[in-house]
Parts: sequence; C-alpha cells; structure tokens
Amino acid sequence: MTVLTGAGVSAASGVPTFRGADGLWKNFRPETLATPQAFARDPRLVWEWYDWRRQKIAACESNAAHHVLAKWGARFPNFKLITQNVDGLHERAAASAKANASLSSAAVIRLHGSIWEVLCWRPCAMSPPRWRDETVPYREIPPRCMHCGDLIRPGVVWFGEGLDPDVVYRATQAADCDVFITVGTSALVYPAAGFLDIARRGGAFTVEINPDLTPATATVDLALRGPAETILPELDRQLAHL
Ligand code: OAD
Repeated sequence: MTVLTGAGVSAASGVPTFRGADGLWKNFRPETLATPQAFARDPRLVWEWYDWRRQKIAACESNAAHHVLAKWGARFPNFKLITQNVDGLHERAAASAKANASLSSAAVIRLHGSIWEVLCWRPCAMSPPRWRDETVPYREIPPRCMHCGDLIRPGVVWFGEGLDPDVVYRATQAADCDVFITVGTSALVYPAAGFLDIARRGGAFTVEINPDLTPATATVDLALRGPAETILPELDRQLAHL
C-alpha cells in the first residue's frame, strides 16, 4: 500500500492548507514568498513568513489521520508514505507511536522538503548540504549559517525549483503498488499529482479521501468523500476485522 498526502491531512491539526477558502495562497502571493527570486530580492520578508509558519506548526499536534498512517507503516508490508507536506507531522506521529509498531520516520518520502531543515543560500564548504534546525522563533531574521555567516534558506522546494531526483525516484518506485490512496490533496501540483496515474497504469486499486471534488476524483476506483481524520480511522477499524 502506498499513500500520498497533501495539506488536507494536517488541516485538523490547525495547519492551513494552500488552496480553498482559508488557504495560504488566498492571502499570500507565492511569487513574493516561495520562489528563489523572492528570496534573492527580500530574504527578510521570506524568512518572516517561514518563521511565522514554523511557529504555527510547532504549536500543532498530529491528528488521527497521521496516527492511522503511522500505524499502517507497521501493519502493511512495504507500506510507503509520500507526502507533499513540509510540516513534519507524519514524522511526529511516527515518533510518538510505540517503537517498532509504527512507520519509521525515515520511510516518509518528502517530495517538497521540510520546513524544519535549512541549507546555505550560497554553497558553503563548511556546512552539511542541509541540516535540521528547530529554532522557533528565530532571534535574528534572516537567520545565518554559523560557519560562513551568510544567509541560510528553508529546506523546502519553491516554485520554479526542481524536486530532488532521488526523492522522485523513490516516489515513482512507491507508486508501483497494489493499493494507492491519495489523501487531502487538491491534485493540482505536479509531479506529485502524477503518482496516482503511475499507480493506476501499474494496475493499483486507487482511492481518494477528500471532502471536496478534485481532478483526481473521477479517475479513482473509489472516492471517499470526507475529512481524512474521520475516514482514515474508520477504514482502519474496518480493516481490523479482516
Ligand atoms: P491544497 O491546499 O492545494 O489542497 C488541500 C486539499 O485538502 C483540498 O483538496 C481540500 O479539499 C482538502 N482538505 C481540506 N481539509 C481536509 C481534511 N480535513 N481531510 C482531507 N482533505 C482535506 O494542498 P496540496 O494539495 O497539499 O507546494 O498542495 C500541493 C502543493 O501546493 C503544496 O505542497 C505546496 C502548494 O503550493 C509547495 O510548496 C511546493
């Protein structure tokens, strides 16, 4: 089983989604906050936005949807989780579950990076390629590399940037599965949205969990209309009887 998640899976935790009535892209313009050009122009503005998001996410807890997926990591052989989310809540749910009874946090395939990782804006010989930084809030914005003193940037994929080819390879391999479930994503952003097609062409049974219609709805074998935090626990209960 492979599951692809998007922002909707974290909605019940209080993390804002991107599209829809209260989505981040309703109030903020991606071109001024989530592109390399925006960062080059105004790193302080970009970091203020990311620092605000990091504070918001740090105050959130993983929800029932994250917990079911963490549990399925141990239950189903070869379970794979691909996520577009940068919030780290899947990993937090996995870490809070009992040892050996849950998805390993290293098994999460993060398509768009992590808001909890940073890297040097310009290549720096002294720092690792990227590193974890959970400082919330930053005392100085924009934050700087402790080695070279130059700017660091969030470890997320911005508009106009390519995805890590190794991550895309792992996600493509994961799409070769028996059951593929897409949860809480608007299915508008590629290549993420394309993994459902790869799974379907490979013969997988496909499922969508979303309260709203998306471009994927008409293409899946089973569309379950509702929020992830109620549908996933219900599915988990039904699977327990098998
Ligand atoms: P979106 O904000 O585009 O879509 C969120 C989806 O979640 C919508 O289809 C909602 O109907 C659905 N939803 C809302 N509440 C839900 C709930 N409780 N349970 C299940 N579904 C729910 O978010 P993504 O599809 O993740 O990229 O967006 C994809 C990418 O676009 C993001 O990773 C980000 C963004 O720009 C980058 O930052 C590179």
